[in-house]
Amino acid sequence: MCGIVGYIGEQQASDILIPSLKKLEYRGYDSAGVAILGDDGFLHLRRRAGKLINLDTSLHEEPIKGILGIGHTRWATHGPPSERNAHPHQVGGIAVVHNGIIENHAELRNELKALGADIQSDTDTELVAHLIDREIRQGAAFHEAIRKAVARIEGVYALAVTSKDHADELVAIRKSSPLIVGLGDGENFLASDVPAIIKYTNKVIYLEDGDFAVLRREGVTIYDMKGDEQKRMPKTIQWNPVAAEKEGHKHFMHKEIFEQPRSLISAVEGRINVEEANVQFPDSGLEMIDAREVQRVMLIACGTAWHAASIGRLYIEALSGIPCEVDLASEFRYRDPIVPPGSVCIVVSQSGETADTLAALREAKRLGAKSIAVCNVPESSIARTADAVCYTNAGPEIGVASTKAFVTQVAVLFLLGVWFGRRNGRLTADEAREHLEEITRMPFRIQEVLAVEDHIREIARWSKGTRGFLFIGRHLNHMIAMEGALKLKEISYLHAEGYAAGEMKHGPIALIDEEMMVIAIAPRMPTYDKMLSNIEEAKARGGKVLAICTRGDTTVATRADQLIEIPPCPPMMVPLLTVIPLQLLAYHIADLQGTDVDQPRNLAKSVTVE
Ligand code: AGP
Repeated sequence: MCGIVGYIGEQQASDILIPSLKKLEYRGYDSAGVAILGDDGFLHLRRRAGKLINLDTSLHEEPIKGILGIGHTRWATHGPPSERNAHPHQVGGIAVVHNGIIENHAELRNELKALGADIQSDTDTELVAHLIDREIRQGAAFHEAIRKAVARIEGVYALAVTSKDHADELVAIRKSSPLIVGLGDGENFLASDVPAIIKYTNKVIYLEDGDFAVLRREGVTIYDMKGDEQKRMPKTIQWNPVAAEKEGHKHFMHKEIFEQPRSLISAVEGRINVEEANVQFPDSGLEMIDAREVQRVMLIACGTAWHAASIGRLYIEALSGIPCEVDLASEFRYRDPIVPPGSVCIVVSQSGETADTLAALREAKRLGAKSIAVCNVPESSIARTADAVCYTNAGPEIGVASTKAFVTQVAVLFLLGVWFGRRNGRLTADEAREHLEEITRMPFRIQEVLAVEDHIREIARWSKGTRGFLFIGRHLNHMIAMEGALKLKEISYLHAEGYAAGEMKHGPIALIDEEMMVIAIAPRMPTYDKMLSNIEEAKARGGKVLAICTRGDTTVATRADQLIEIPPCPPMMVPLLTVIPLQLLAYHIADLQGTDVDQPRNLAKSVTVE
C-alpha cells in the first residue's frame, strides 16, 4: 500500500526513481509522483493520476534534470485518486511523501486553516508539509522543523522530506510503516521495500520506529527523534534481483503459481529429519517455547493468510492435541480475548507488515502470550516483533493475489504441528516419520497438477457467462473453497463465495441455477461421500458442476460436468494440491477477462493501514 522511494547521488534522479517505483507497483496504487531538486535550484513536482506509465511518459516528454529526489505511489485513503491528491506535496521550499495514516488530521486541518494555510488537497500528508513549512518560517532549522512537525502528528507514518535549501540531503522518518535505506557508493537510496532498490544495492539498513535518517551522497546518518545518533548495522540482502522479474511469464501471478514446487522445497528444507522423525527451525527462536507447557494456540491472520492459519489450526490440533482457535486479525482486539497462561499466538503474514496482524500480535504479547510469526519477508515489522520467526522462504511474491506464500504458510504450519506434537509427546516417531515423508513428496505432486494447465484454461473458457461461482469443500477443503473464491474474486472481479459444503442447505443452495457454477472440492478423503451428495444436490438444481477429485475417480466423473484430477495423497496433504487448480482457474478466468491480474483494482499487496 503506497510506495516511497528516494535518491541522492550523481545519476539523474528520475532514472532511478521511476524504475524503483515500478518495482513497488505490486503494493497497489492509483496515482504517482516525484519531486526532484532541479539543477536550477528549484523543487520540481510532477504528479499523475492512474498508472505509473502516465508519470513516466510525462517525464520523457518534459524531463526534470536533478540528482536528488523523492517519489511515491499512492493508494487513496484521504480523498479520491487524482493529480491534486497525489504525492509529493509541496509547501514553500519543502516536499513530502508519506505512507500511513495521520490520525489527528481533522484537528490539524482545522488548526492550519485557522492560521491561514492554503491547503490544496484532501490528504493528511499535505498537512505535514504545512507543519514543517510553518516551523521553518518561524525560524527553525530544517531538521528541527521536521522534528517539531512530527511531534504534532499521531498515527502511522513513513515520511521522506526534501528541501530546496538543502541540496545535499534528504530526510526519512518512520513510525510503524516500513522504510529502508539502500547504501551505494557515492549515492544512497530510500524505499519502502527491497525490490525497489535491489538492482542498485544489496546493502540495506532497516529503519526502526523513531529513526530519523539523513541521506547524503557520501553516507547515511541515523538519529533518534531527540537528535542522538543511533547505530544501525547494514544487512546484506541475499535476494537475486532476477527473482523479482517475470522471467517470460505473462504475469507475476503465473510465475509464482509455477514456482510452488520449488517454494515448498525451500519451506521445508533444512527443517525436517525424516530418519529422526524430527522437525527443527534453526535460528528461529522457537526453542524458547516449551511445547509441553503450551495449553492453547491462537492463530491470527488476514485474507489468504487467515485461510492458511485455519488449516494450521486443524494441523496443530490433529498432530499435537493442543486446542487451537483462529482469529481474523482485524477482529482479535475487539473481542477482549482471553489469554490464559500457556497461550501461544501464531501470526501468519506474507508481507509481515499487515497493520491488523501486527496490532493483534502486539495485543497478544501484551496479554502475556508467547508469539511465533510465520512470515515471508525477512526483517519485516511482524518478524521483528514476534518472539520467534519461522520464515516461509517462498521468495519475493509480487502478484497481489497470494499463491506461493499460501502454500508455504500451510507447509510451515504443518511442520509446526509436527514440532509441537513431537515435543509434547502426542505424536509417535513412526507417525511423525510418515507425515514428514509425505510432505517431501508434495512438490512432485504439485508439479503433476500444474501439468494440466491447458485443461484448466479450457474450463476457464467453458465457464464464460457464469453469473456467480460457489466453491464448496469440507474439513481442510472448506478453507481451500474460501481461498479459491477469494482468488477468483480478487483478480476477475466476478462474484464468488466459498462455503463449507455442509452449509449449502442452510442458505447458499438458494443461489443455484443454470447460471451458477459450483466448484466442488471432492478428493478421496473421509468427507468424500458427503461431497458426492453435495454434487448431486447442485446438479439437481441445474448448477454447472466442476469437481476437483482424485485421479481415476469414476464416480465423481459420472456426476460432475467437468473434472480436474489431482494425484492421490494422504488427507492432511490434500490442501497443498486442491488449491493449485483453483489458483490456475482464477488466473485463466481473469486473464480471459483481461483484468490487471498482478495489480487488481482497489487492492494492495500489503495492507499497512487498519
Ligand atoms: C491474498 O490473495 C490477498 N491479496 C490478501 O488476502 C492477503 O493474504 C492479506 O492481505 C494478508 O496479507 P499478509 O499475508 O501480507 O499479512
